[in-house]
Amino acid sequence: MALEKLVIEGGHPLRGEVTVSGSKNAALPILAATLLAETPCDLGGVPRLRDVDVLARILGVLGMQIERDKTGRLHTKLLSEDCNTAPYELVSMMRASFCVLGPLLAKRGYAKVSLPGGCAIGDRPVDLHLKGFRALGAEIEIEHGYVIAKAKRLRGANIYLGGPNGSTVLGTANVMMAACLADGTTVIEHAAVEPEIVDLANFLIAMGASIDGAGSHRMTIRGVRRLEGCAHDVIPDRIEAATLMMAAAATGGEVLFKNIDPTHLEAVFDKFREAGVGLNRNCKTVAVSGAEPIREVELTTLPYPGFPTDLQAQMMALTIMGRGASVFTDSIFPDRLHHVSEFKRMGAKILRVNNTCVVLGGTPLQAAPVMASDLRAGAALVIAGLCAQGETHVRRIYHVDRGHENFEGKLRSLGAVIRREPDEVPEKPPAV
Ligand code: EPU
Repeated sequence: MALEKLVIEGGHPLRGEVTVSGSKNAALPILAATLLAETPCDLGGVPRLRDVDVLARILGVLGMQIERDKTGRLHTKLLSEDCNTAPYELVSMMRASFCVLGPLLAKRGYAKVSLPGGCAIGDRPVDLHLKGFRALGAEIEIEHGYVIAKAKRLRGANIYLGGPNGSTVLGTANVMMAACLADGTTVIEHAAVEPEIVDLANFLIAMGASIDGAGSHRMTIRGVRRLEGCAHDVIPDRIEAATLMMAAAATGGEVLFKNIDPTHLEAVFDKFREAGVGLNRNCKTVAVSGAEPIREVELTTLPYPGFPTDLQAQMMALTIMGRGASVFTDSIFPDRLHHVSEFKRMGAKILRVNNTCVVLGGTPLQAAPVMASDLRAGAALVIAGLCAQGETHVRRIYHVDRGHENFEGKLRSLGAVIRREPDEVPEKPPAV
């Protein structure tokens, strides 16, 4: 893969309006759920992203046809159920692809799916997913890095899905999808309540599933014999929206956001108020401005409706531009702090003890070459680059491409001076 970087000239406030894309984290499990349908599905709002392409390839291997029409809608159709193996080469590229396990197991009675492994944001176990499948009566073995799951027919069960750091989003999605075709009733206790889970449940209900309580910690799923294809529009991406809002505020600009659901962003707006970010909200639009100096905040990432871990890095970038000392604790992914050393390369003053960081605002950022370690850290470095003096080079930008549709295009339309360039990787030094 040829590497690319984003080159950003700092100091241009973002102004104008932008339409937010459909949610990556809602679209991915919904795409996996199309495996459950006997007939074609028609999906709107699926963003054009590398992660979506990877999952589409996995679904292709599993016998699905996935096509995007001229209007951007995705159409899925089941062609064959002969292959039930999701290979390491693809699953290791993206953790959400582990969500094909639930649908395959429930519908085809057998699934062999590579363990996704850890990633830059830390160790990411799947024990809760497997606990849920076992409770539904599946036989689970781990062989050579693959999970092999078998069950002639799943049976409904009471399943507690709370883990050491709260509920699990994809674990809830995976088990909920499997339970839709189980015999009898499943109750998931300590279910994740993220809007993306509610969107998946709505999609499954439109397919004919019986699900009560999505969006609460207790979900009841009554198994049905078959699910049909249906049409569905994916919810707007709350993380993309808030990332661009933080960019607008950090640059001291003013931007109107369209296609958002402000009710999904209450925790973020609460921190915006604390920080003094200008906010004007309506039903489906929000205007954000950052004229005043950003004030210090104290935040801990939490499962929804708390402040999302997926916005911790971007919010940190915003407070670096502010004054006072801000405190950040990531309680979901305690190692999700690789951006801190990159911010420091740009002159930021940040102290770290374990999963807590104190940002000492008020030091102007200087442009520097920096490296994206994951998707959200990459977006945060772009925000820092938009504010820094000089030309920042954000390398390994493929991380950002995984999850932000047309990120630099959207920023450019708001007045950012940003371009993509090939990234030259230094030649291997001669052996000594
Ligand atoms: N956990 C376990 N066991 C499990 C599963 C999770 O202990 O079997 C722990 C995790 O280690 C973590 C906590 O539970 O400490 C929550 O993890 P969760 O399972 O909720 O994460 P996920 O479902 O794998 C989704 C998003 C992430 C987002 C997290 C938390 C998708 C595709 N991914 O991951 O999004 O950070 O929820 O909200 O929906 C991103 O978009 O950049 C991203 C990483």
